Amino acid sequence: MKSLTALRRAFAHTGHAVFFDHASYGPLPKKARQLIDELAARYQQLDRTIDQDSFNLLRQIKRDFARIIHTRGDEVSFVPNTTTGTNLVLLGLALRRGERIILPRVEFPSLSYPVLYLARRQGLQVEMLHCPDGFYTLDSLKKALRRKGAAVLATSWVQYFNGYRYDVDEIVKLCHEYGVFVLLDGMQGIGAVPLDAKKSGVDAVVCGAAKWLFGSTGGGFMYLDPQAVRRVTPASISWLSADWGYSFGDLQRLDRPLYTDGRFFEWGTYPYYNLRLAQAGLELILAAGVSRTYRQICLLLDQLMKFLDHSPYVIASSREPQHRSAILSFTGPAIGRLHQYLTDHKFRTSLREQHIRVAPHFYNTPAEMRKFIAAIKKFPG
Ligand SMILES: Cc1ncc(COP(=O)(O)O)c(C=O)c1O
Repeated sequence: MKSLTALRRAFAHTGHAVFFDHASYGPLPKKARQLIDELAARYQQLDRTIDQDSFNLLRQIKRDFARIIHTRGDEVSFVPNTTTGTNLVLLGLALRRGERIILPRVEFPSLSYPVLYLARRQGLQVEMLHCPDGFYTLDSLKKALRRKGAAVLATSWVQYFNGYRYDVDEIVKLCHEYGVFVLLDGMQGIGAVPLDAKKSGVDAVVCGAAKWLFGSTGGGFMYLDPQAVRRVTPASISWLSADWGYSFGDLQRLDRPLYTDGRFFEWGTYPYYNLRLAQAGLELILAAGVSRTYRQICLLLDQLMKFLDHSPYVIASSREPQHRSAILSFTGPAIGRLHQYLTDHKFRTSLREQHIRVAPHFYNTPAEMRKFIAAIKKFPG
């Protein structure tokens, strides 16, 4: 297994900037650029093996996404981003007028907007879960589940601005007691925090690869549990939803059987460049190992918390092990100006909802965190 410091060399920026902003986007690995260049050159040389290689790569990528969340490759579909996966699942569930989707009040809009639009269009009810401290509790979820008509819980796994991680096992157990389908947006955790989707029994997971998975925009995945796949009938399919045995010599046949697993959701010829981008990210995530990554991130965030606890700043993220994640947010005096000051000094974080969001990954080091803390101490206010 490669050391995490060796993996630092996979990025171009590590020599000149401290990047703690993986909750916004994952920096492009050097290998991604190389793969894109290689593919472009092959196109220019009219290389006829690109299609077959890309189909093989697609299968490999699905297996790799599946490994990260402990599922099987054929249960995973490649999707362009989180939103597309979300819509595929919600539309495919064909909910009936009067049925209810439970949605946290504090959510990333990629979940809230599709839910609210679908509800308007299909005459569904939406029940918003209150999030007084930036997250909902199991008790409030229980109350919502007891009300008649509850059909789906659409929720993030990790909340985008304070990093609160919901306990998927508990949530799924509870929802399934009421026959409620769980759609989980894994975007703010998968790749950095271990998730065992199979063990949890979650029905559907959607996740773009552009953040913690270093896969850039235009690629991500959707996982559907084998039971759930029978409930989700996509509003549209593609020619690749049918089983051609990966041989495309006789395309006039209309009797090709439709897949019954994740391949049912294939959406036509894939953007081959995006497959390469996803590949480069996945190679790194698997080389680092998600459990090791999470341990490393927790140590870095502990370092920061220790300092913040004796500073004028207030931590907004949970400290409970089962609700922690790779994101730590804090707020306090002149927070906007502090964020600008840090950016000016080449420390990349985000300002979200009046909090500085710190989101390190496996290749960040304790020395970088010490420098970051030293910079906060020097902030003139
Ligand atoms: C929780 C969460 N889900 C989804 C997204 C993005 O959705 P999409 O991949 O559709 O752009 C973000 C942030 O960009 C997010 O924080």
